[in-house]
Amino acid sequence: MKPNTSAQFLYTDSQPAEQDILAEVLAGLRASQLSISPKYFYDERGSQLFEAITKLPEYYVTRTELSLFDEHLSDIAEVIGPDCCVIEYGSGSTLKIRRVLSALRPAAYVPVDISGDYLLEGAQRLAEDFAELDIFPICADFTQHLALPEALSSLSKVGFFPGSSIGNFEPEHAAEFMRRVNTTLGPEGLLLIGVDCKKDVKILEAAYDDSEGVTAQFNLNALSNLNLKLGANFRPDRFEHVARYNESLGCIQMFLRSSCYQEVTLGGHTIEIQEGQAIHTENSYKYFPEEFLALAAEAGFAPAQYWLDDQQHFGLYLLRVAPEAN
Ligand code: AVI
Repeated sequence: MKPNTSAQFLYTDSQPAEQDILAEVLAGLRASQLSISPKYFYDERGSQLFEAITKLPEYYVTRTELSLFDEHLSDIAEVIGPDCCVIEYGSGSTLKIRRVLSALRPAAYVPVDISGDYLLEGAQRLAEDFAELDIFPICADFTQHLALPEALSSLSKVGFFPGSSIGNFEPEHAAEFMRRVNTTLGPEGLLLIGVDCKKDVKILEAAYDDSEGVTAQFNLNALSNLNLKLGANFRPDRFEHVARYNESLGCIQMFLRSSCYQEVTLGGHTIEIQEGQAIHTENSYKYFPEEFLALAAEAGFAPAQYWLDDQQHFGLYLLRVAPEAN
């Protein structure tokens, strides 16, 4: 699989079983507020649409984070030191990790993602370009407990969770997830995490409802993905994309609003959806630095350092597992 090098390449498939997926999706569609988890955005087409979002003029998140990488990665590499193991939670495009691997020069890299084909393809391209690097892709739901290959036990661990994906968790689940990350990283662990800041509502809403309609396609793709994955019969053309900032929660909320009464079947079950009824698909929480650092502290992390861009749109945080956390 990885020719002409002595570096290791070991793929682990821990994908959840289809039965679990069906039960989870049905539970969401039977709740009083209909919902579909945002993890179902990311099949191959969804991952491509997300990549297109990251290049939109309205979506400042990715380019701002990349500029923070350009400015600070060499300082970050000094704090982290060589020969660590980088664990990337939800490894989509390889754009960011390439910069991190070039700056940090770790001994091993563990990309974790639920989208197996995309994960493997990205990891194989990286293996060609970072010939010395041991790569251990794990196809799994990264929000759950992660079992690392035994071969990595002696390396110090650095978690990498860019792009403000932490904002897609409810704050209490964000703290639980970070607590699990903390346990995986262990006593000397560090976490490099990008977090979007609270800001002007107009900037936020434009970022999630772009003029080209790419975010709308991305949102609707969750339905197409469930059609393929579970043999459902959602009609994406009967839903419209809605994105608005919820001031009291401090998050962008995305929905798919049904344009008519419809019945959808999946796994032999029928769900009725009324005209105007909305399926909630995503929350994207925004944090002032003091709010995020409080959440990190709850999960047993202390700040090593953090950086904001000039407009204070985005924060890059290097967190340390607090001594009392493990
Ligand atoms: C992946 N995640 C951090 C994105 C966000 O900004 O919450 C997902 C996204 N949804 C719509 N646009 C981008």
